[in-house]
Amino acid sequence: MSEGGRATSAGASFPGRRIVVASNRLPVSLQRTGDGWEVEPGSGGLVTALAPVLRSRGGVWVGWPGTVKADDELEEVLNRATRDSGYRLEAVPLTREERDNYYYGFSNEVLWPLLHDLQTLFRFDPDYWSAYETVNRSFAETMARVAGPDDYLWVHDYHLMLVASALRDLGVENRIGYFLHTPFPPPDILVKLPWRKQVLSALLCYDLLGFQTIRDRNNFLACAGQFLRDVRVEGEGTVVRCDFEDRHVRVGAFPVSIDFDDFDRIARSDRVVSLMRDLGGIAPGGHIILGVDRLDYTKGIPNRIDAFRIVLERNPPLRGKLTLVQIVVPSREHIPEYHDLKRQIERMVGEINGRFTTDTWVPVHYRYRSLDRPALVAHYRKASVALVTPLKDGMNLVAKEYCAANVDLDGVLVLSEFTGAAAQLQDGALLVNPYDTIEVAEAIARATRMPSEERHRRMERLRSVVRDQDVYWWVETFARAASSSELPPLPTLPDFMPGFRLRGDPCGADGA
Ligand code: UDP
Ligand code: G6P
Repeated sequence: MSEGGRATSAGASFPGRRIVVASNRLPVSLQRTGDGWEVEPGSGGLVTALAPVLRSRGGVWVGWPGTVKADDELEEVLNRATRDSGYRLEAVPLTREERDNYYYGFSNEVLWPLLHDLQTLFRFDPDYWSAYETVNRSFAETMARVAGPDDYLWVHDYHLMLVASALRDLGVENRIGYFLHTPFPPPDILVKLPWRKQVLSALLCYDLLGFQTIRDRNNFLACAGQFLRDVRVEGEGTVVRCDFEDRHVRVGAFPVSIDFDDFDRIARSDRVVSLMRDLGGIAPGGHIILGVDRLDYTKGIPNRIDAFRIVLERNPPLRGKLTLVQIVVPSREHIPEYHDLKRQIERMVGEINGRFTTDTWVPVHYRYRSLDRPALVAHYRKASVALVTPLKDGMNLVAKEYCAANVDLDGVLVLSEFTGAAAQLQDGALLVNPYDTIEVAEAIARATRMPSEERHRRMERLRSVVRDQDVYWWVETFARAASSSELPPLPTLPDFMPGFRLRGDPCGADGA
């Protein structure tokens, strides 16, 4: 780490020789075109942070290519992508049935709502769990095949909770880490999962378990203590040790992040400045209020649109001056709840626009598509307010990207206190309960009237946290926790209890 706490060579501390990463999706996106496959490199934070480590030390990324139609041509495309990315991509193919029962089914209709405290959206099917076990075994078999004895294995996210257990069954003795990108629920929610014991005991086959926040980590420890026998927790601080049967597992909090410098650089580029000019027409002389989300019921998009309606209803002078730009990235549309959500959003947008549109102003601009990086950053930089109001979110990278792109320091982040990001960003954001649409409406109105000095003060604070604890810091912190012989003295993270603003509002009008 550099003096200011910024990681200079992320991943340098990983134990072992090479790194073998596994995530449900490979870090590339594949599209079937009329006459073959098109492959695009992935652009998420995980790829950005891990690609240099994999390239420099050698490594393999194991994942599902996202299609159920594997053919020779696809293999050739992946070989080409391997040559281009500088590390090996290893595909775990899924049959149509496995995709439906493991990915759509157990991962996204059982685990996803449960981990986000939305268990009323559960959908159980007897085939889901066995497909989940089968596919986790396939991932383990592929990892066992490609890993050398000195490699460090790093598994990601809720799709692959059973991989370490399957690897141990195969006799693999390498060190294995795991990072959960979603939240982890408390015992009174996990109790609803019939396979809770199997999941908890499989997670305790990893050597290091990483969660987004101290709260998620503590929830996991509470669940392990409640649902498994003879679990002991040793140590205090960001990483503790959990002893279960003959295993000693490190369990810690590592808030995932973004490549701050990259977003900051793109935000200052000529391309973004020119794209911002084009966006000027959306809200001439007024404010853009921005929402950017995957289509997902965890993101609270209907609540947010409703809050925007309340602002317009209660503040006639703001009509014509505020424009909500809501970008929704298509996602998991085969799942009925996602499909229904899309209809609900379209209906709500139609109602507001039908009611408030004038000759010169359309209140909600709704885009159902993904934007490329410069277009997204232009939206971030142009928006006066980012409305990041999920009902629950592991971290929420959009909140951090908005801050990194806010090079003019004049944007305001309205942030749900149920995001992982709230723990780190509580001192600069306007925190809201996303279910309380009146509170969100008041925060929008307050943000648009906030004096520029307060906006700058808040944004400076936000940017400094995101700059110091960027994605390289995240990888390096995880690597240190994975490698040190003693429990590592890692930076203390703020514990954060939604609903209790213990420290008041340090950036408020009277704040320092
Ligand atoms: N994103 C994107 N194109 C878009 C909108 C979003 O590439 O048009 C990216 C965005 O930059 C962010 C990610 O999608 O990195 C969303 O991550 P987040 O943690 O906010 O939510 P998730 O979708 O993982 O639940
Ligand atoms: C969340 C999950 C990721 C997942 C992403 C997109 O960020 O934590 O694991 O890849 O959503 O969802 P999808 O189902 O399209 O992979």
